[in-house]
Amino acid sequence: MKIAIIGGGNLGCSIASGLAASGFVDAKDICITRRNLQVIKHLGEKGFCISNDNNKAIEDASVVILAVKPFQAKDVLEQMKFTPGQILISTVTGVWLKDLIAWAGEGVEVFRAMPNTAIAVRKSVTCIAHEKVKPESAEIVSRLFEQLGSPVVIDEKLMDAATVVGACGIAYVMRFIRACTQGGIQIGFSAQQASLIVEHTVNGAAALLIENGSHPEQEIDKVTTPRGCTIAGLNEMEHYGFSSAVIKGLTASYDKILE
Ligand SMILES: NC(=O)c1ccc[n+]([C@@H]2O[C@H](COP(=O)([O-])OP(=O)(O)OC[C@H]3O[C@@H](n4cnc5c(N)ncnc54)[C@H](OP(=O)(O)O)[C@@H]3O)[C@@H](O)[C@H]2O)c1
Repeated sequence: MKIAIIGGGNLGCSIASGLAASGFVDAKDICITRRNLQVIKHLGEKGFCISNDNNKAIEDASVVILAVKPFQAKDVLEQMKFTPGQILISTVTGVWLKDLIAWAGEGVEVFRAMPNTAIAVRKSVTCIAHEKVKPESAEIVSRLFEQLGSPVVIDEKLMDAATVVGACGIAYVMRFIRACTQGGIQIGFSAQQASLIVEHTVNGAAALLIENGSHPEQEIDKVTTPRGCTIAGLNEMEHYGFSSAVIKGLTASYDKILE
């Protein structure tokens, strides 16, 4: 399989590195494009194909990943000559399937994908939306994102919500981790030890839910001894509006996207 990545910026390069690291496809079979080639020269030295010619890059690619800024998507796609049957995966925020289909032309199998920055370490949840594509194309796209974390197929109308929960979600969780680290320092740990403990605690908490398939409250019940320290801390957080602040934050991000 040959893959072309149009837009070798933060996301495009993370996808390229992740796919090559997974062994899903050889670096030489991934062509990354951008106008300023100097910036991705190091990827060329690692064996990737690099180019500033989008049409040449997609010539023999079965999968084309679009990772340019939203305002660039229309011009870039309209200048590209796709072959019917090629798979186009757009990671571009806020650009709808109907527009992508119109700009890419007839016969292209079009998908939207919303990953998050954890794609750099192959642990991104990636929300995928598509309409009227061949099942074998959907299977290829799903397998591709399995190399980079966990794909989830959603209805396209939930793409903005996916941006908030999945992509902005990284920032919310980071802020929680930072706050826990600050608290840990105040009660005696060095910054380094506090970070290490908090990072692994968050990782472990997520693994409990993912691997056990349990509900957060079930896991909370297991650690809240009556009159104990956990419930005292948890209730204090709630008195200060913890859950409410998180929900209000998510909806504020969502309202901003819809503006
Ligand atoms: N970063 C994330 O975590 C994330 C998550 C989900 C979705 N997204 C979406 O992914 C897209 C890319 O985000 P990003 O953070 O990677 O942005 P970025 O770092 O700015 O990358 C965009 C790249 O597109 C290149 N580009 C612009 N015009 C081009 C053209 N005509 N042909 C080829 N390449 C061209 C730019 O390089 P030159 O200027 O050198 O051409 C730049 O490297 C955005 O639409 C964003 O909404 C990002």
